Amino acid sequence: MKFFIDTANLDQIKEAQDLGVLDGVTTNPSLMAKEGITGKENIINHYKKICEIVTGDVSAEVISTDYEGIIKEGEELAKLHDQIIVKVPMIKDGVKAIKYFSDNNIKTNCTLVFSAGQALLAAKAGATYVSPFIGRLDDISTDGLNLIAEIRMIYDNYGFNTQILAASVRHTMHVIDCAKIGADVMTGPLSSIEGLLRHPLTDIGLEKFLADYKKGN
Ligand code: E4P
Repeated sequence: MKFFIDTANLDQIKEAQDLGVLDGVTTNPSLMAKEGITGKENIINHYKKICEIVTGDVSAEVISTDYEGIIKEGEELAKLHDQIIVKVPMIKDGVKAIKYFSDNNIKTNCTLVFSAGQALLAAKAGATYVSPFIGRLDDISTDGLNLIAEIRMIYDNYGFNTQILAASVRHTMHVIDCAKIGADVMTGPLSSIEGLLRHPLTDIGLEKFLADYKKGN
């Protein structure tokens, strides 16, 4: 299972990279704005900085919503760095663009996916990754994890190569549940990764081991 961090915060990206388990980064315009990164030039420079920190895939989202615009923007983004994955929204022109990118060896992440039908379409178009937003489904009383399970079944039925990137992961249990279901990738905040580390019995056990060691010295 790949771990991506879902942020544009360079300190958090570095921290996750230092842990040694990071496989990539996802960003979106909202995450960029949260870090105060606005305007095309600043956003482009920020992608370059992220690519210098991590060794894995870095999703960079297009802003255009028409076919020609998505193609132009996606080709520009893909040229920035070989780690860039062009993130395209699940809209009609987006699906057409994903097919074009796939035919032209440009990797894509189909974003804003909320149904199994959308995920099937993304795979048919040749998306490298599909991003079902599980947290946002949970927010509206719909089972986000069930969507991951449905997509896993459909992709396995037909041997689609599109990787299921569980997005909008909000906490550590989401990560564990996605791993059980068989999501290929999860993207979440640093806290969702660091939460995997913690167990009170580990802390109590370590404290006792260290105390007992001191007794003998
Ligand atoms: C995915 O790539 C998105 O950036 C992200 O996971 C959205 O998460 P949110 O619902 O917490 O904003």
